[in-house]
Amino acid sequence: MLCGLLLGSAMITTTAVPANAAAQTDERVAKLLARMTLAEKIGQMNQVHAGDMDAVKELGERLRQGRIGSIINQVDVDTVNELQRIAVEESRLGIPLLVGRDVIHGFKTIMPIPLGQAATWNPEVVRQGASVAAREAARSGINWTFAPMIDITRDPRWGRIAESPGEDPYLASELAVAMVEGFQGDDLSAPGTIAACAKHFAGYGAAESGRDYATTNIPENELRNVHLRPFKAAVDAGVVTLMASFSDLNGVPATGNEFLMREVLRDEWGFDGFVVSDWNSIHQLAVHGLTADDNESALAAATAGVDMDMAGNVYESQLPDLVEQGALDVGMIDAAVANILQAKFELGLFENPYTDPEALPGIANPEALATAKKAALQSVVLLKNDDGALPLSKDRLDRIAVIGPLADAPYEQLGTWIFDGDRELSVTALDGIRELVGDDVKVDYVRAMETSRSRSTEPFDKAVAAAENSDAALLFLGEESILSGEAHSRADISLPGAQAELVRRIRETGKPVIAVIMAGRPLTLTNIVDDVDAILFAWHPGTMGGTAIAELLFGLESPSGKLPATFPRMVGQIPIYHSQKNTGKPPTPETVVHIDDIDAHAPQTSLGMTAFHLDAGYTPLFPFGFGLSYADFVYEDIRVSAEEIPLGGTITVSAELTNHGDVPADEVAQLYVRDLVGNVTRPVRELKGFRRMRVDAGETVTVSFELHTDDLAFYGRDNTLMVEPGDFHAWIGGSSDTGLRTEFRVVDGD
Ligand code: NOJ
Repeated sequence: MLCGLLLGSAMITTTAVPANAAAQTDERVAKLLARMTLAEKIGQMNQVHAGDMDAVKELGERLRQGRIGSIINQVDVDTVNELQRIAVEESRLGIPLLVGRDVIHGFKTIMPIPLGQAATWNPEVVRQGASVAAREAARSGINWTFAPMIDITRDPRWGRIAESPGEDPYLASELAVAMVEGFQGDDLSAPGTIAACAKHFAGYGAAESGRDYATTNIPENELRNVHLRPFKAAVDAGVVTLMASFSDLNGVPATGNEFLMREVLRDEWGFDGFVVSDWNSIHQLAVHGLTADDNESALAAATAGVDMDMAGNVYESQLPDLVEQGALDVGMIDAAVANILQAKFELGLFENPYTDPEALPGIANPEALATAKKAALQSVVLLKNDDGALPLSKDRLDRIAVIGPLADAPYEQLGTWIFDGDRELSVTALDGIRELVGDDVKVDYVRAMETSRSRSTEPFDKAVAAAENSDAALLFLGEESILSGEAHSRADISLPGAQAELVRRIRETGKPVIAVIMAGRPLTLTNIVDDVDAILFAWHPGTMGGTAIAELLFGLESPSGKLPATFPRMVGQIPIYHSQKNTGKPPTPETVVHIDDIDAHAPQTSLGMTAFHLDAGYTPLFPFGFGLSYADFVYEDIRVSAEEIPLGGTITVSAELTNHGDVPADEVAQLYVRDLVGNVTRPVRELKGFRRMRVDAGETVTVSFELHTDDLAFYGRDNTLMVEPGDFHAWIGGSSDTGLRTEFRVVDGD
């Protein structure tokens, strides 16, 4: 998809190594490999935990013997430099270490959680955020991050949805490229760039019932059309490493899955970086029941294409025997080691193994904080705004009540996966509001709940009193950080604890009620949505979240985030996502019958029945792509540059977008397409383009998306990529449920 100004840059592969440099690296790798013993080779395939000083003390001798290729979780720069020194100066071959760390959405300065970043629909701000993270992490000697996490998921129960780009493969692919570019820059050996790792390959986001680590069953066609697409985009963007998933995919756990790592990744995509296992996931092949013991697990993982063992010690203990007994060809070991060495050469580690933090930009410098603030501002989604409840006006308010467990929670607002995040840097919403209103508005703060899970309603009286004395009540609700992330799945995704009761009590005061919700996942908000006047959904917004939220509440900027994942009405609707298939009995508003409207003793009928739930209908509470604004955006006049487009040709789909409101604002225009008849059935809508743009009050802009027939390609019945002639629908709008439609036809070029 070539889409005008903004997306053009995201399409360019920036990390491609010039051919002669690649040839030189190959030569250096080959020469080094020729000098290595089997033990030294296996050492390169071994990543060890170095996160505490006891572990570090154990490492010296193993490093001298060349038995470790990478360490994980050490962030003290002096310790890292010392470990590098032993590897480089005291081992026989002097091979430097890869130093890995989960730098997922920031290092010390924390950006919104990745799902929040996805809500910006802004690859540029995502790229900048990753670049800030890389520079800060590099000061600690880290040269490899385990990000971007690009698992597509349609299940908000899954705790790791917080780390993901959400439900859509196109959006995820654009953001995957942006993150890879941000971490790796255009020269991996430059100071402040680090190797990225696209994870978790593949299918992890489809865990049954959203329970982390649970089985996934994904037909190959869906795997290729949905889950693999962001990984292909990351590979094309030059990502240096991939991580195998913990999960079982169609009966073969990903860590032992030859189809994924050899057939697709190497043979089809030509990936030439290396693959790391997940933490101890080689050992877990036996726990899954794919293998009997570590010996078989090491053989399965190495054969399938896992080049490095993360913290499992299984390669180190098993590979020597497997090679000596002839069960594993040493050629496989050589190939794995060559992949790893290549990354070390590309990172420039042989030339510069040591880190001088002072030579890199400082932590939380103005640029870092500005990026974190911009990302937070653009990530917040306005879900509801009855009668212009927002923005608030300092001039019309004397007193506001700020209530709730997340109003002043510097740690919780940072979200999951912030091992190194500095809570001292956090600006909370309470800080941000106080700073913004100064002495103009009196702020009464009542926490009301110790944590987001608290069940006691005792402190609510104080909150009610504050609301009663105020001109508006601002409720800061949601999930604390630990309720999402790895192994933190939930079966009930409504507001936890007594929060709904708090909302009801505050509602009874009759004051305007504004809910600001911070969470690591889409929540079911059905039980509170009618009791509040406005909802700002802020995800976990990171270090500068409070400043951003205050500026949005008081209208210094208009909310412009759009949902990267569908918000269900209730858990029973999951999976519910915008690109569902039509079914043979698609629901319409006319065919839906509510459970309360069924006559007593109604007889069974098969006439006119369609695919919906009796108690939830078929629509979500808030659809993918949705997000309101303080501006008033109207899309009109959709058209195509030609009604027919020959295979191999392009077409332009355009519409007029007018801001009928009083304020300038950003809007994210979205292009959706439906292929009406397919070799395999196609989704009712597929995102094919988007663009964030600024539109002044009263201004009309033309939104144009250029669509090549390759953008319409999908994997067909035989799982090869195809574009078929035929009829298509196209929509442009500010949400996936836009009704502004046009049509075009793809025709044979001859
Ligand atoms: C397990 C997680 O699944 C993975 O995403 C992470 O990178 C590793 N642990 C290392 O912490």
